[in-house]
Amino acid sequence: MSYIENCKKHRNTIIENFEEARLVKDCLDKDLIKELLMYQFTEAYNIKWQDTSRNLQAICDIDEIFEKIPAMQDIFENLIGKFSEHHTGNFYITSMLHDAHCDLLTQSECEMSMFEWTKRMIPYKSAIIPLVINKDAEAYTAFFRQRHIGYSITLDKGGRSEQENSLYEIAREYPDFYEYGPKLESDFRNPLLPKDTVEDLDYENIFKFEVGDIMLFDACQIHMSVVDSWKEERDIDFLKSGINIQFYREVEGE
Ligand SMILES: [Fe+2]
Repeated sequence: MSYIENCKKHRNTIIENFEEARLVKDCLDKDLIKELLMYQFTEAYNIKWQDTSRNLQAICDIDEIFEKIPAMQDIFENLIGKFSEHHTGNFYITSMLHDAHCDLLTQSECEMSMFEWTKRMIPYKSAIIPLVINKDAEAYTAFFRQRHIGYSITLDKGGRSEQENSLYEIAREYPDFYEYGPKLESDFRNPLLPKDTVEDLDYENIFKFEVGDIMLFDACQIHMSVVDSWKEERDIDFLKSGINIQFYREVEGE
């Protein structure tokens, strides 16, 4: 069965696993943060960068992180229970806000032989691990109540992004989302996005990007970068590095 067929067949299980996004404070010590920060420079086998965005991504084997740094396995098993040894994700170094999206598998990834393992998987959790940010800078991630059970997606009703610059499928019309979690009233926003991009979506939680913490959320959950409502694009001033990791759970095969 394919990943997307698993998403349909095991939809109830995926929904049963949904939880409100949470911020786990001070759960990584300085040595581990340094080790993870270094990892992207010592273990990368490729680099992704586009001159249309200020986002540099060191491409590493994310599965290997859990083998080479066993503390990571322990930390996440404590936080989210059992998960598959297969992951997706990436390191990033960026000075820009991210648009509304969810990080999962893409359709083209699922068709590749190296992603054969996806045939046994359903989406489970995602984590953002802040590694560095410049002093006094403020960066936030907003997590929406809306969950997308399927492939990766970027929400772009406003037509801001070009499909050719994106690995994720760009949705101009939005699919039906599964809604979960409490509604949070906030005027934080992403000033780079046209207003209509997320006008029908609701915030569930907003967390500040702080080194030592882990943001944990549903892998299907739509999220984006936000700033204080008064800030315009010219007021955005940060440089941050972090890791984004997806966790999957195995289901019965055919
Ligand atoms: Fe993301």
